Amino acid sequence: MATIKSTNYSIYIGEKSLPTLVKFLTKNSYTNYFIICDEHTFEKCLPTLLFNVPQLHEAEIIELESGEDKKTLETCLQVWGALTDAGADKKSLLINLGGGVISDLGGFVASTFKRGIHFINIPTTLLSMVDASVGGKTGVDFEGIKNHIGTTSQPKGVFVNPEFLKTLSERQIKNGFAEVIKIALIADKEFWKELKSVKEFYSEKIITKAIELKNTIVKKDLYENDLRKCLNFGHNIGHALESALIEQKKDILHGEAVAAGMLMEADIANTLKRINVKELKEILDYINFIYPKIKLSNSTKELLLKYILHDKKNEGDALCFSLPKNIGCYELYNGVKIELIKNALVNY
Ligand SMILES: NC(=O)c1ccc[n+]([C@@H]2O[C@H](COP(=O)([O-])OP(=O)(O)OC[C@H]3O[C@@H](n4cnc5c(N)ncnc54)[C@H](O)[C@@H]3O)[C@@H](O)[C@H]2O)c1
Repeated sequence: MATIKSTNYSIYIGEKSLPTLVKFLTKNSYTNYFIICDEHTFEKCLPTLLFNVPQLHEAEIIELESGEDKKTLETCLQVWGALTDAGADKKSLLINLGGGVISDLGGFVASTFKRGIHFINIPTTLLSMVDASVGGKTGVDFEGIKNHIGTTSQPKGVFVNPEFLKTLSERQIKNGFAEVIKIALIADKEFWKELKSVKEFYSEKIITKAIELKNTIVKKDLYENDLRKCLNFGHNIGHALESALIEQKKDILHGEAVAAGMLMEADIANTLKRINVKELKEILDYINFIYPKIKLSNSTKELLLKYILHDKKNEGDALCFSLPKNIGCYELYNGVKIELIKNALVNY
């Protein structure tokens, strides 16, 4: 089992992660346990968790409806209400069993309930293993804007059991893999080369490497004052595209939007001479081979541009992008012009 030390907690990766959770619960005396899950993780993951961690047999289960459109304040009200009704106190532990929607929402609920109670993440999607459950960003969507309301609050532990991925669809696996590609492109050229040579989208080794890279960055800049912004590669355009398509009631996953975002932002990086044509082609070929192209109508493009100007990542009028600077490094480029984005949309 790999153990990665984060700010004030550890991330345990491998099949021993659940036995480690048993020890964690024994060591920390919580008054009671609450498990947040959705209908899929209730069915596919909760039995494994309860089988391996007997202390949780008495836990209160809070089952939510799955979906990004449920990552809202209304759902938080439901969870705060359930916690209150069941007598949760300052020493209760909230356990987020699910993908990024559950860890984002559960972390936010825990960080605000009675001014903050402990929570841990047990990620069950590739996306939440390599990204959402690590780093302490919590929150919900508001008025169609993703992650508009939230906190930066660290879990007390993250327990990553790749076995949970066996029930996940190929589409959802690829969804998470986009974040693996992202971290390799901006932080580790050797890892990028390795990804290009492996056949599978995940393994304990790939998951561990992706978490290590993200964790190293997060530890240096928890509140995203500077360095952590590099993790936004593909996300300025990706987030805007995701919001636009959700508003148009189109079927889109976060990682699919980020994959398209990386294609367009790599194009911008090339225009700004941060990567050469050969590297651009390498990135485009690899991503296009894995992800189908998303059809962008004129109305989607217009909405995308509207959302990009709303982005939390902007400061004032300047559009700040994290771009690859040669593969494996990044540059925070403050001042991407809207024309460049329009051009990348045409090239996409
Ligand atoms: N906080 C962060 O740093 C951060 C980073 C990246 C993404 N996110 C957020 O994460 C969210 C997306 O996360 P996600 O892709 O995990 O989505 P998700 O949580 O909606 O999970 C995807 C689907 O898979 C199902 N599922 C989960 N585990 C399963 C399993 N083991 N077997 C079968 N089905 C399973 C879920 O029920 C859901 O239907 C977005 O809201 C995004 O904003 C947050």
